[in-house]
Amino acid sequence: MICIGIEGTAEKTGVGIVDSEGNLLASQGNPLIPENGGIHPREAAEHHAANIIPLMKAALEESGLELKDMDMVAFSRGPGLGPALRTVATAARSLALSLDVPIVGVNHCIGHVEIGRLTTRAKDPVTLYVSGGNSQVIAFDANRYRVFGETLDIAIGNCLDQFSRSVGLGHPGGPKVEKLAKGGSYIKLPYTVKGMDLSFSGLLTAAIRKYEAGAAIEDVCYSLQETAFSMLVEVTERALAHSKKREVMLCGGVAANTRLREMLKVMADEHYAEFHMPPMKYCGDNGAMIAWMGQLMHKHGLVGGLEDTGVIQRYRTDEVDVPWRRSSAE
Ligand code: ATP
Ligand code: FE2
Repeated sequence: MICIGIEGTAEKTGVGIVDSEGNLLASQGNPLIPENGGIHPREAAEHHAANIIPLMKAALEESGLELKDMDMVAFSRGPGLGPALRTVATAARSLALSLDVPIVGVNHCIGHVEIGRLTTRAKDPVTLYVSGGNSQVIAFDANRYRVFGETLDIAIGNCLDQFSRSVGLGHPGGPKVEKLAKGGSYIKLPYTVKGMDLSFSGLLTAAIRKYEAGAAIEDVCYSLQETAFSMLVEVTERALAHSKKREVMLCGGVAANTRLREMLKVMADEHYAEFHMPPMKYCGDNGAMIAWMGQLMHKHGLVGGLEDTGVIQRYRTDEVDVPWRRSSAE
């Protein structure tokens, strides 16, 4: 059984091919890099429309397979930008119809967790998923993946990107802020954890104001990272203590950050928990995670028909039935 997966919840198009054993046969992706400003949903959709077919060809070539070898199509059903999701869903439906194979829409956030479990030794981790569009602490509990904590406003990646654009460093902000932070020292910025949830918008505004008021860019970058990452680590730590799990996993594009990894690993070590992170290729958005989700859903009889392929812009992590977790880990 071979599944081809198409990812396109935000600005990155991805196509992956995975077999039923979890062998990652191909993963090809292409991000839209905006010249200035953020990502417009229509531009993301146009980017997917232009890239899905070339990426499919590249993924087939990488896997050494042909289109006729695909036994199933999976696509990212949500959460994400409406126009982007609809473009991907349309492409997936057309492909499934033309190949006459089953199709399934999958949850993007759970895709991150499952490709992480597949590519690391983590069995039942508390996952910190941090990207441009998401900041969530996820763990399996009472038969579902539960969101233990999340951002109440913007995601951490978006916070770093907006800061970077506002001070003229360009996009994407994460790597630029990380580099400059190395030479900085601490200035006080607002630290906002509300219960198990996080807020980054006040921190973003305060960081921009500090810079405008004349603080050194290195100091602002350092303090922005230290503050935001401490907030993320605090919430992950509390989820770990509450759930009594033994593993911490980091994923999403912001996992590229060495300082965040270091802070999270120190916290995990203090709790005698293992720290895991998938290879960077599978940390950010990718088609392989969608194809692997398709395989898991197929194995557990969750593949419906074409009528069940509508997109869900605000697809909640805890809405999804994950029978493969019930039968294995617990
Ligand atoms: P999603 O759809 O899951 O929200 P995304 O579209 O944001 O994903 P990703 O590739 O997962 O795509 O993440 C991109 C984000 O990662 C950007 O906000 C970028 O600034 C951030 N990022 C990349 N490298 C680093 C880094 N070294 N430090 C911090 N952030 C980083
Ligand atoms: Fe993602």
